[in-house]
Amino acid sequence: MFDQPSLAGRCEDLAPGAWVLRCFALDAAEKLLREIERIAARSPFRHLATPGGKRMSVAMTNCGAVGWFSDPRGYRYTSIDPETGKPWPAMPESFMKLAGEAAAAAGFDAYAPDVCLINRYEIGARLTLHQDQDERDRHSPIVSVSLGLPAAFLFGGLARTDPQRRVPLVHGDVVVWGGPSRMRYHGVLPVKDGEHPLTGALRYNLTFRVAR
Ligand code: SIN
Ligand code: FE2
Repeated sequence: MFDQPSLAGRCEDLAPGAWVLRCFALDAAEKLLREIERIAARSPFRHLATPGGKRMSVAMTNCGAVGWFSDPRGYRYTSIDPETGKPWPAMPESFMKLAGEAAAAAGFDAYAPDVCLINRYEIGARLTLHQDQDERDRHSPIVSVSLGLPAAFLFGGLARTDPQRRVPLVHGDVVVWGGPSRMRYHGVLPVKDGEHPLTGALRYNLTFRVAR
């Protein structure tokens, strides 16, 4: 299952079950960005509060059957967007296709994510080291698509204190981590000042998960 994926040369081996697929989303990127706009028109980006009461520097929205949400009551998945009172926008076909192809290229067949968390990073926004642990499924991969400004991704181990690799990610790169690496700690360093032809001073990240 964790054999070398088919896209040799464009793949970087991060850990067992974890890969960086360079440029994998490049062809789809403009379409993905248009879909993000469409989703955000219905479920706008918002800065969520952590259970500790801090405002997250990354703005978030979701599409799919459920969406990830955080407030002082805790982290959880909801089928209704608590801010609009309506279901989260459906997952676009182009999202499903890309996520399935990336998962397959990393050795995970029949990937069926039910949520895509969409992160929007302004200059200086960051994501502190964390595990994706609010999902019932702890084997299916996380598929993470970078769009717009570059960022430094931190990829650690199964314990918070394990050493981390610093992985530079640019527009179109996709990271997949599942199986034995599914619960690895990861994060994003503050996004540096810059300008991207398609997104301006923003970085977007799509994170596909199997939540339920
Ligand atoms: C995440 O961990 O949810 C996002 C990672 C990223 O923005 O690259
Ligand atoms: Fe994460």
